[in-house]
Order: sequence, then C-alpha cells, then structure tokens
Amino acid sequence: MSKQDAPADAATVDGFPPDFVWGAATSAYQIEGSPTADGAGLSIWDAFARTPGNIGDGTSGDVACDHYRRWREDVTLLKSLGVGAYRFSTAWTRVLPDGTGAVNDAGVAFYDRLVDELLATGITPYVTLYHWDLPLALDMRGGWLNPDSANWFADYVAVMVDRLGDRVRHWFTLNEPWVVSDLGHLRGAMAPGRRDLHGTRSAANNLIRAHGAALAVLRAAGDHQVGLAVNLTPQHAATDSSADQTAARLAHSYINRQFLDPIFLGRHPDDMPTVYGDAWQSLSDAELEAASQPIDLLGVNYYLRDVVRHAPDGPALPFRGGPLPGRPTTAMGWEIYPDGLREILHWLRDSYGNVPLMITENGAAFDDPPPVQGSVPDARRIAYLHDHLSVSRQAIDEGVNLRGYFVWSLLDNFEWQFGYAKRFGLVGVDFETGDRRIKASGQWYRRQIAGAGLPAAATVNGDLAIAEQEQV
Ligand code: FCB
Repeated sequence: MSKQDAPADAATVDGFPPDFVWGAATSAYQIEGSPTADGAGLSIWDAFARTPGNIGDGTSGDVACDHYRRWREDVTLLKSLGVGAYRFSTAWTRVLPDGTGAVNDAGVAFYDRLVDELLATGITPYVTLYHWDLPLALDMRGGWLNPDSANWFADYVAVMVDRLGDRVRHWFTLNEPWVVSDLGHLRGAMAPGRRDLHGTRSAANNLIRAHGAALAVLRAAGDHQVGLAVNLTPQHAATDSSADQTAARLAHSYINRQFLDPIFLGRHPDDMPTVYGDAWQSLSDAELEAASQPIDLLGVNYYLRDVVRHAPDGPALPFRGGPLPGRPTTAMGWEIYPDGLREILHWLRDSYGNVPLMITENGAAFDDPPPVQGSVPDARRIAYLHDHLSVSRQAIDEGVNLRGYFVWSLLDNFEWQFGYAKRFGLVGVDFETGDRRIKASGQWYRRQIAGAGLPAAATVNGDLAIAEQEQV
C-alpha cells in the first residue's frame, strides 16, 4: 500500500479482543453471475430481474462480478485485505436446481472449491444458507407462502451440511427474513414481488419455521455454530406526539422483534396483531417451541436508523420511517447514524440474553469514482466504517458479547433493485471488464485488522505505528 492512498485522517480503532473475527461479506446472486452454469436452476431473482421495470438500471445478476469464474481472484483479494473470515451465501439453485429432488454435483463442486481455497488461505468460511434466491421452481409452488417451504429448506440444508460440513463449521440459516417478508411480499420491491399483507405474514411464519427446521438439521449433523442474520434498525419517533410514539413502537416490533422474539423467547411480540390487523396469524405453540431452540450466534446487519411517523393513509402499515432531515445519508438515502448500532447491541443484550453477536453486515454505498485507474479515494466509506467500529468497540467495553465484524461488502456488486448503481465494496469492480481494484477503504481495513488487537498504547496520534511499519 502506498501511504498516499489513505486519507490523512484515516485513524483506525484499536483495543479489540485478540480473537475478534474480522471479515467481509457477499451473497451469491449479488456477485456470482453465470446463473445457469453447470446445471443450475433459475431463482426468483433471475425472474424478478428479467421483468422490465423491477431493477432501477435495467440490469440483472446475469454477470454480476463474474465471481463464479473469478472466485480464485476474489479469495486472493480477501487474503490481501487480511481478513480472517468470509461470509458468503450458497445458491440453493446450484445445489438443487428444482429446489427439491436430485442434487446437482457440479453446483456443489463450486462451493467445495471455494471452501477449500478459503481454508488453504487461512480464511474461515461463514456460510449463509439463504440470501433471498429461492429456486423459481419452488416459487411456482407458492414459495414461502407454502407451509412445505420449511421442509424444502431443511432438505436443502441437509445437503449442504452433508457436503460441506466437514469443513464449514459456521452457518447462518437465513439472511434478513424481515426483508424477504416485507420487501418481497408486501411492497413488491424485491423478489418475488408480491404485494399482500396476508402473504407477508404467511411468509414470515414459514421463514421462522424454516429457521427452526434448518437448525434441527444442523444440530443433528454434529458440532456446528449456527445462527441467523437479521437487519436491525432503530425506530425513533419523529415527534413527542402519542401517535408518532405508538408508530415507532409498532415499527420496532414489526422490523426488529418480529423474528427475534419467536426465536429467542418462543412467543410473538404482543402488538403484532395491532400491526397486522386482519392479516395476523400466529404460529402454534409447537412451532414456536421448534423455532426457539438455542442458537450459537446472532448476526446483526446494521446500516441506518429510521425516524418514524404515524402514517394512517399509507399503502400498508400505519407507520412510515425515513432519515432525519438534514442528517448525512449514504447513496442509498440511509441516515448515517453509528450510535444506533450501539443502541441495537445494548437492546439485544438486554432483551435476549448474552448470545454471542457478530455484525454480519455493515457498510455504505457512496458515489465512488469507477475503479478505472489509480486508487479509489473513498474517504467517506473509511469514516463510516471507522465510526461504526468505534461504537462497536465501546459496546464491547460495556459488556456486549460482540465477537466479530464483517464489512458489507467485499466487492461492488448487484445491489438488488438498484442494480449496479450502488457501490458498497472495499474493492471496486469495473463492470465493463470485471477488473477489481482495492479502494482506499480496503487498504484502511487492512490496517484496521492488522492493528485492531493492539492496546491503546500502541497508537500514535490515533494511528497505528506498529501496523504502519508492517505495511512498508
Ligand atoms: C442488506 C442485504 C445485502 C445488501 C445490503 C446493502 O439488506 O442483506 O445483501 O444488499 O443490504
């Protein structure tokens, strides 16, 4: 790294525990491309992206980062960032092209190679089993609306742990089930593009059941670290009015507690019937029991907070959130609010006990220049990561059981309904050529990892003297 790559104020955050896990994250549909290679089947995201009007820039994940062919180069990038862990998802459609039935060995072989290469490089794989790319064949049978979906998922998970479980020990069952149910089944903004509150609730229930069923499969398979990754977003009332206060409380139940209360406490939040009205359906006691078996690890995906207003005339639920006017936002329009991460970490500890936590996603899209030549100067991303790591460190000092941190994302990639317009990567991708280039934030993250376990005394002016010497 040349020193001029990093902005002058690129301090790192020291004092993390020596065994803290440092990683980067991706998901299959967002990076792999080659959706039908080697016998893979189509997913709901293939279908959704091919429908005109669904993706802001008219693109799809057909090529994405071409990771399916360039995976070895991407492991080399992970190595040069110095991460100890990589969180990626496996595409159900590569393994079971029709969602159930015959296993596609060529698809499994891709993940076999990736896992082997990661391990040979000294990087621990953290596998997300479902990051939104349901096999299209299962959607034709109702997808997450079908009560059988939990069993379909469990069968797929059984294949994955059978094939990779000798080398992969860390698993997340689902990524962000709230996004699947809300954006996929209520707002229609994401695949499968449905818009129905009853279906939203059915999908939520089946996702909770699917988590429980997958957990049982992984437990039966031996000694695995299992959890799920959820998006958590503080819901702050816009005003003191009782209508806005109630709106914020309901939004908090809907977004943050809807999945975690059943999974940790074995019950639904009391106010869910108020949120859903006629569409409310509860799980049975037996289903709640199955879903609430202990997990080893909770993944926290944190990006923003919402300032919430009562919105009785909205299209769906009686609340609406957004950034506080005047506060800085990312290119997603998401408010930059690091204190919210600390708030969430404290809330988790106080609400659900001392389960080990990992921040499985945190990061930001900014309008970076394309990575054509030279370095990509992305000082705002460095500041974002720095400030979120500072509050993470503070939370650890305050007794939060935080074990790791994964930046979203390793690479600029296909950001769902926004296509390639939103760049989250530590590594810039030229989508014309597929060329990758480590951004200034990637260089900074490498220094962060190299020096993070050092005590405060090792720093000079907030920068890491020892880590710097190792670079040169
Ligand atoms: C999260 C998703 C991830 C990515 C980031 C920006 O909700 O899990 O795939 O899109 O947002």
